[in-house]
Amino acid sequence: MAGSGNVQRGLEDVIALESQICFIDGKQGRLIYRGYDIRDLAARSTFEEVAYLLWYGHLPSPAELTELRARLATLRRVPEALGETIDRMPKTAHPMDVLRTAVSALGISEPEEAGPGASAIGGAQRLTALIPAILGRFHRRRTGGKPLSPRPELSHAAYLVEALVGRAPTELEARAIDVALILHADHELNASAFAARVTASTLSDLYSAVTSAVGTLKGPLHGGANERVMELLDEIRTVDRVEEVVRAKLARRERVMGFGHRVYKVEDPRATILRDWSRRVGEEKRDLHYFDLLRRLEEVVHREKGLYPNVDLYSGAVYSLLGIPHDLFTPIFAASRIAGWTAHVLEEYQDLRLIRPTARYVGPVDLVYGSPAVRG
Ligand code: CMC
Repeated sequence: MAGSGNVQRGLEDVIALESQICFIDGKQGRLIYRGYDIRDLAARSTFEEVAYLLWYGHLPSPAELTELRARLATLRRVPEALGETIDRMPKTAHPMDVLRTAVSALGISEPEEAGPGASAIGGAQRLTALIPAILGRFHRRRTGGKPLSPRPELSHAAYLVEALVGRAPTELEARAIDVALILHADHELNASAFAARVTASTLSDLYSAVTSAVGTLKGPLHGGANERVMELLDEIRTVDRVEEVVRAKLARRERVMGFGHRVYKVEDPRATILRDWSRRVGEEKRDLHYFDLLRRLEEVVHREKGLYPNVDLYSGAVYSLLGIPHDLFTPIFAASRIAGWTAHVLEEYQDLRLIRPTARYVGPVDLVYGSPAVRG
């Protein structure tokens, strides 16, 4: 056996680097972006302000915010070559696969912004501005619609909703999505941010790092969970069936998506805020079906497993009420987390150290080439 020391499976509790971007207090259930509590940001700021905060390390002045909004608005139009690439993708593709491929393709046409250098911030803003339009372009084509021209006067959240559902959101809908974008914008060294940093740490470019991150976010143990929550709710159907379905699932040792977290030992503060927004949007639509199912699901899962909800439990219910299809939920996560991923990449470029851990080798070492293989 080669390699000494303890193996930390899943790198649990390993401190891999220092960062000034985000702090999670898993015991108190607090989440901080660059010093500001997520609860204050969700109550008082906008996604554009939070993106600025993550990228530049401080909240923008009114003039800086106006400038960022204007810059993002000018970057919303999908370049023709990228549009053609998206239009060639099969309509049956998962939007996360489309997004991953589109980010990668964009890296070919925008090499000067790819970094690692000062220009990487330009790539960060271009990607943030374009992700809703990329998703909208694909989604409208697969549902038989024509591409929409993004309206520069819309907030980032309203532009995202319009790109996905083809209509302007109500004020409450736009604010619900704005809050969801704020809450998902960063989460310390989560799997996709880590993937982005690993890629950037080789001095690879920003677009490659984000491509790695999108692929990592797609998995159901990470960003893909909210889609699975809605599949579960559709399977449960009525509040009186929650207990039976959950017990059967747990008896099969299956996970209930939207619960549990590697870092939070109490309720994820993002779930607390999204629970409230799921109720508010449900009340506006006079449809509390999902909200009622989720409340009961929380009770049963907590009683049976002692688990608390995470950010993915209530987000899908909000998106569904706006008429957004389930397979666009994880892409919405990406449309927000792009701010955090790119902030991590920029930080990595400033304090670069190749990320390359070690494995403990547990295989054979002295097999003789040409002799019959011995199967372990
Ligand atoms: N349902 C049922 N059992 C669970 C769940 C769950 N959602 N989460 C954890 N457990 C159990 C798990 O089976 C294990 O039990 P035992 O010790 O008896 O085998 C114990 O709790 C510890 O689980 P773990 O997998 O060692 O814990 P982890 O820190 O690796 O898990 C997690 C974190 C998020 C992968 C896990 O809680 C999970 O699979 N949750 C469901 C998927 C989900 O909702 N993901 C979204 C996470 S938040 C958004 C994001 O960051 O992307």
